[in-house]
Amino acid sequence: MPMSSGTTNKKDHSFRVVGLPGDGVGAEVYQSACQVLAVMEDLFDFTIELDEQLIGGVAVDATGTPLPQATIDACKSADAALLGAVGGPKWDNYPAEQRPEFGLLKIRAEFNLFCNLRPIVTHPALYDFSPLRPERLLGVDLMMVRELTGGLYFGKKWRDADQAEDVCRYTRNEIKRITQAAGRLARQRKGRITLVDKANVLETSRLWREVVSQVLEEEFPDIVLENLLVDAAAMHLLTRAADFDVILTENLFGDILSDEASMLCGSMGLLPSASLGDTRFGIYEPIHGSAPDIAGQGKANPYGMLLSVAMMLRHSLEKVNEADALEKSIYRCWDEGILTPDLVPGAYGTADVTQAVCERLEHPA
Ligand code: IPM
Ligand code: MG
Repeated sequence: MPMSSGTTNKKDHSFRVVGLPGDGVGAEVYQSACQVLAVMEDLFDFTIELDEQLIGGVAVDATGTPLPQATIDACKSADAALLGAVGGPKWDNYPAEQRPEFGLLKIRAEFNLFCNLRPIVTHPALYDFSPLRPERLLGVDLMMVRELTGGLYFGKKWRDADQAEDVCRYTRNEIKRITQAAGRLARQRKGRITLVDKANVLETSRLWREVVSQVLEEEFPDIVLENLLVDAAAMHLLTRAADFDVILTENLFGDILSDEASMLCGSMGLLPSASLGDTRFGIYEPIHGSAPDIAGQGKANPYGMLLSVAMMLRHSLEKVNEADALEKSIYRCWDEGILTPDLVPGAYGTADVTQAVCERLEHPA
C-alpha cells in the first residue's frame, strides 16, 4: 500500500535502497537481507543499488550522533531503507540525544513516516512455538497500524531532580491521516478496524475516537469500526486474536501491543514492519531489537528482516510478484523446520537459514 501514487514509474526496475545495519544482531540480519536480494536480482528483473549508511550506536561511535546528516541525505534520494536494529548497553547512559534510539525516532520524524504497519499472521508450522494453544492461533491474520510520529514519543519532555514529564499530544490532522491509511488498508482486507485507546481516562484518546469515527463515517462508510480500550485489547489479543482485522492505535500502545502480538507467531524474531509516509519512501525493519545478548554468535533469526524485505518489495518498489516469491520461500522453510535457536535450541544459524531461503526462491512461472 503506497500511501499515494508518488512519482513511481512502474517500468522502473532499478532501485536505490539505503542499508542501515545498525547495532547488535541488526548487522547480522542485514547481511542476510543483502544476500537474499543479490539472489533475487539474478532471478528476477530488477536491480538494487545498496548504499550502506550509519544509524544508532555505531553512528554515535563514528560521528558523535545517532543519525548523521549523510544518512539523511542518502535516504532523500532513495526508494526505501532497510534497517537492522539500534541500541545496546554500551550507549544506555549516554545523554538522550546521543542514544541510538534517538536516531530511529529522528529518522521516522525526518521523513514523516507516520504509518507503521506490523502484520501478525500465524502459520500452522509454528503453532507449537507460541505459548498459546493452537485453537487460539487458528486463522489469525491481523494488521497493526501504529501511529509513529506523535504521542508520548515526540511530546515535550523534561526532568529535574525530583520530577519528570512526557507530554502526550495529538492533533486532529495526525489522527485523520493515519485513519485514512488504515481505512484504505481495511478496504483491501476484511473491512474492519478496531480502534484501541484509553478513552475512559485520556483526553487524547477521546480526540482519537471523535476523529476516527468522523473520518470513517465520511470517507469509509463501508468499514466497520469497533472501539476497544487498550487494557482489554491486551487481553483480547490472547483470547480472540482471530477476530481482529486492522488494529489502529497510537504510538505507545502500538509499540507495546505489537510485541505482545508477536508471541502469537512464536517469536519476535519473525515479525517485519514497514514505516510509511505520503511518498513511496519507507523504512523496513524487523520489530525485534539489537539483542546484545546473542549478537555476534551467528544465531539471530533473520526471518523478520527477510519478511521486511518482502514488505519493501511490495510497498515501496511495487514488485508484488517478487514479494510473494520471497514470502513463499520463507514459508517453505518454516514447513521444513528450518528455524533459528530462538524457536528450536541448537537449530539453524542465521547463515544456514539465509542459504535455505535463497535456495527455495523460485521465479513465478
Ligand atoms: C519499535 C522499537 C522502538 C520503538 C524503539 C527501539 C525506540 O521498540 O520499533 O517497536 O519504541 O518504537
Ligand atoms: Mg517496540
